[in-house]
Amino acid sequence: MSEVSNGKPRVLSGIQPSGNLTIGNYLGALKQWVEVQRDYDCFYCVVDLHAITAAQDPEELRQKTRESAAIYIASGIDPELSTIFVQSHIPAHSELAWMLTCMAPLGWLNRMTQFKDKAGKQAQESIGAGLLNYPSLMAADILLYHADLVPVGDDQNQHLEFTRDLAQRFNHRYGETFTLPSVMNPQAGARIMGLDRPTAKMSKSDESEHHAVYLLDDLTRARKKIMRAVTDSQREIRFSDDAERAGVNNLLTIYQAITNKRPDEIEAHFAGKGYGDLKRAVADCVVDTLEPLQARYNELMNEDGYLDSVLKIGREKAAAIAEATLKLAQDRMGFLAPS
Ligand code: TYM
Repeated sequence: MSEVSNGKPRVLSGIQPSGNLTIGNYLGALKQWVEVQRDYDCFYCVVDLHAITAAQDPEELRQKTRESAAIYIASGIDPELSTIFVQSHIPAHSELAWMLTCMAPLGWLNRMTQFKDKAGKQAQESIGAGLLNYPSLMAADILLYHADLVPVGDDQNQHLEFTRDLAQRFNHRYGETFTLPSVMNPQAGARIMGLDRPTAKMSKSDESEHHAVYLLDDLTRARKKIMRAVTDSQREIRFSDDAERAGVNNLLTIYQAITNKRPDEIEAHFAGKGYGDLKRAVADCVVDTLEPLQARYNELMNEDGYLDSVLKIGREKAAAIAEATLKLAQDRMGFLAPS
């Protein structure tokens, strides 16, 4: 168990500021973050150090980092309740990541599906070592805060298992130091699929125009993307694991994740209706979610100094915890304390 703050167990999660955040990021991560913030002591970071595992334009990275923090708040993360900060503002993340990298067996890292997927798309010669070591940095993010719970989409579950295994390895070798975190996936929306290719996960880095709805998409455009989503040649509107029905299943899942209705209620609602009706209903609820989010986002980006002050307060709160954990881990590993 973590050192509990205000009697509440702790949550940590993060999103990479690489590209534009999608409704997959919202439904898989942000929506849960908002839902848990009253019951947990929450830390939400913008993981810019993870973003540089792929080359980033410096100006764009800076811009996307602020943009992501504004999206966290616009999605409903309340800076009075939760701590919002930028990963690179806390050097302890990089320092612990190195210590954990030295403890991470190559076999474990090589087995990570996300590494295999991303590395598989590049020539061996050009694969950055950061891509392989990415899970050790993610483990550092989580372990520095003694997080009990990590709310993420299901593509991150393997990284969470890795984090637990690494924490156990460290604790076993050097004595109880880290809390073992548990993963938390949303009931619906843990894996939103691409609208144009419903057998592939919706991703912020996909280049196709009709793949993803971005949180900052113009609303007409967002609606258009949903109306053009790939479906199938059948008629029945119901949830299904059948790969051929992945498009309809994905639309129903988006609808379920946003409305919080039960699957049987949703199927009853769409009984006898057509795919056009389904798409219109999904587009309506997505647009109803994006509209207030974008309005708040625009206010935040135009409010001089507010965002920076949130990130400054977040940095101070996060640093105090992260530095104490880092010190403990350094001591356990045998580093000489500076006098
Ligand atoms: P990232 O930036 O790829 O995604 C951020 C969050 O969004 C979720 N997500 C999705 N959920 C449902 N459907 C989708 N199509 C979809 N796409 C993305 C992800 O599961 C994630 O929760 N490694 C992490 C970032 C990270 C992190 C951490 C997370 C770094 N350190 C510590 C938790 C704790 C990542 O790449 O997320």
